[in-house]
Amino acid sequence: MSGKELIKFCNVINLPKISEPRGNLTFIEGPQGASHIPFEIKRVYYLYDVPGGAERGGHAHKDLHQLIVAMSGSFDIVLDDGFSKKRFHLNRSYQGLYICPMIWREMDNFSSGAVCMVLASNFYDESDYYRDYQEFLTAANPSPSQQSRSEV
Ligand code: TYD
Repeated sequence: MSGKELIKFCNVINLPKISEPRGNLTFIEGPQGASHIPFEIKRVYYLYDVPGGAERGGHAHKDLHQLIVAMSGSFDIVLDDGFSKKRFHLNRSYQGLYICPMIWREMDNFSSGAVCMVLASNFYDESDYYRDYQEFLTAANPSPSQQSRSEV
């Protein structure tokens, strides 16, 4: 899947939050459960100890669905479907940013102590990555003049 307006499928999902005087609890179930996210979880990974000023991401996935949660601290994610870009600021552990396939993402502005947890729909597979932006743009179908300029 690729194309214009794909970025509209990428949204911040509000996850369940059980608040009690002894603390908060959030849980996430896939489509065979309470379906908070539209994919089954096959892999979990997390970024931590990210130095100030560092950037992560800089790639797109061909088929992978992901949910990104700021478990602690905060960071920004810029999503790009080849036609337009959108910046999200994540700083709540009860919210997750859903990213569908064929979206280029760049992450920056990590706060001190930020922990970025990623739920993924499949196991690690390097052949699922686009790591070259021009190659991604061609696959996503841009030109004229390889679109994707505005950040909204
Ligand atoms: P990468 O996905 O490029 O991370 P980021 O987008 O945050 O910069 O992965 C960084 C390295 O880690 C790369 O060599 C691949 C490896 N890696 C795995 O071995 N397994 C995984 O599940 C992930 C996400 C990455």
